[in-house]
Amino acid sequence: MRTPIVAGNWKMHKTVGDTVKFVKEFRSVVKDVTGVEIVIAPPFIAVHAAVEAARNSNIGVSAQDLYWERQGAFTGEVSAAMIAEAGAEYVIIGHSERRTLFGETDAMVNKKVAAAFGAGLTPIVCIGETLDQRERNETYAVLDRQIKGGLDGVTADQLAQLVVAYEPVWAIGTGRNATPAQAGEAHAHIRKRLQGWFGADAADRCHVIYGGSVKPDNIAELVRHPDVDGALVGGASLEVGAFAEIVFRTRA
Ligand code: 13P
Repeated sequence: MRTPIVAGNWKMHKTVGDTVKFVKEFRSVVKDVTGVEIVIAPPFIAVHAAVEAARNSNIGVSAQDLYWERQGAFTGEVSAAMIAEAGAEYVIIGHSERRTLFGETDAMVNKKVAAAFGAGLTPIVCIGETLDQRERNETYAVLDRQIKGGLDGVTADQLAQLVVAYEPVWAIGTGRNATPAQAGEAHAHIRKRLQGWFGADAADRCHVIYGGSVKPDNIAELVRHPDVDGALVGGASLEVGAFAEIVFRTRA
């Protein structure tokens, strides 16, 4: 049985001070929650403060990206080992904003996934089609390409620990979430592909979570589908009340 995961991707929101304030409030609201893995992903600069503020709570911390080299002359970049040392346990890789705005390719995603595993981090690998691609009936071909390219060389054991986030690009920040049926169909397809490529056991342990305009009022229906193992939440993870509500309704 997969324990659902609810992860908040804060993107470029919240300072160190805002992060500590959020975690202090949030941890007491969700302190009795069991049966859901709760994760927050603040900007790099607030990762360590988030880890400290969340110590001895049921909240895990993620980074939003990494660079695959261990160290060196890569101005502005942060390595997997640095993230792990700061106390984070997860790292988001290949978010559509990174792909679109910063030119990230499946080959780069692949190197980042390897680096994350190398440092003992759990990768949350984002995949998803654009509206154009969906309208041209290319959704599954795009997902297949992103999975194959991004997860090349990943072992079955690693896949079992990995989190795939299906985030249809047209649903991100638009208020237009995929319907539970659309999400369920895509997740079932992803699971089927993972089974084919990595074996049934690893694919059944791998989490596939949904992202794109997840809110307190649509989460319950989304996670009702057996292949939807939780959510990657953007906007609604910035407020303690809304994010906590999403956590509660994931468990229900
Ligand atoms: P929104 O929930 O704001 O649509 O963002 C989704 C997302 O990109 C999470 O990574």
